[in-house]
Amino acid sequence: MPEMSDAANVADPAFRNDVIRGLQQAQPSIPARWLYDHRGSELFDAITKLDEYYPTRTETAIMRDNAGAIAAAAGTGGALIEFGAGSATKTPLMIDALEPDHYVPIDISGDYLRASVAKLAEDYPDLAVDPVEADFTRSFDLPDEIRGLHRVGFFPGSTIGNFVPRSAADLLRTFRDILHDGSSLLIGMDRLKDLDRLRAAYDDTEGVTAQFNLNLLHRINCELDADIPVDLFRHDARWNEMLGRIEMHLVATTFMSFAIDGTRFTFDEGDSIHTENSHKYGKRAARTLLLAGGWTPVAEWTDDADDFAFILAEAQPNRFAP
Ligand code: AVJ
Repeated sequence: MPEMSDAANVADPAFRNDVIRGLQQAQPSIPARWLYDHRGSELFDAITKLDEYYPTRTETAIMRDNAGAIAAAAGTGGALIEFGAGSATKTPLMIDALEPDHYVPIDISGDYLRASVAKLAEDYPDLAVDPVEADFTRSFDLPDEIRGLHRVGFFPGSTIGNFVPRSAADLLRTFRDILHDGSSLLIGMDRLKDLDRLRAAYDDTEGVTAQFNLNLLHRINCELDADIPVDLFRHDARWNEMLGRIEMHLVATTFMSFAIDGTRFTFDEGDSIHTENSHKYGKRAARTLLLAGGWTPVAEWTDDADDFAFILAEAQPNRFAP
């Protein structure tokens, strides 16, 4: 009889499929969203506090230092629609600035949604919160409660950088479908900068990012029926100049062979699994990406070093092109 662990019985079939199909590619790769299980989310949280990882504290400072101007430009008193369940620091910052009547967090994980809604309800008893459990890479209808209100979408953290530009443009178009003409979008994008600083942000001296990356292999071993020798992989963060992105890889340090749910894989020394992309955008490229996704940039705020951009864009109604 084949052995099957309890964990294997409850495995998410989408996870199993992404892992097995991804590892069969010429460049083995696994979609980055699987990095964020409970442990992965804890490790990402630790990353945001590292000296080398500037994006979170820089974006937060930009939002705090420009709260008044952001509110004046984006409009107050409408509906704030966050793509993702929200962060404990950035969401309150935006709520304090925009003073929306309604807050609509959208997340695929009901658990994250319920936790963040419960937290907000305590701090903002007068705010109407209308969570939507949905995959925001597909269009859907927003709650009736916000009909007629000005809509401001909120997508911080440079999460857009995880998507290859073609998918990023698709995602921006989906946001436009969800929010409709006349809405606004506040989006964070990490800037191109000195390559040593970029690499350090994804390869910190404490090794937290390495743990975050390697956790994916532990997750596969726990949730799927797998025997990956995790210790024989090392974390690598590399800059892809042509594509303008940091790539995280897990590199095999020696020849190895392992099985996942009965499918066998072999890696030679130096072969890698590509686990995440973080695209970086200069001033013009950031605006062009928004335009390609159907959003007209109207204002942007940055830090003094221009390390990070917080951009306001509008879904202007289509008009005849000249
Ligand atoms: C959450 C996607 C914005 O790309 O900077 C941080 C994830 N990965 N360190 C990023 C991440 C490694 C992060 N995002």
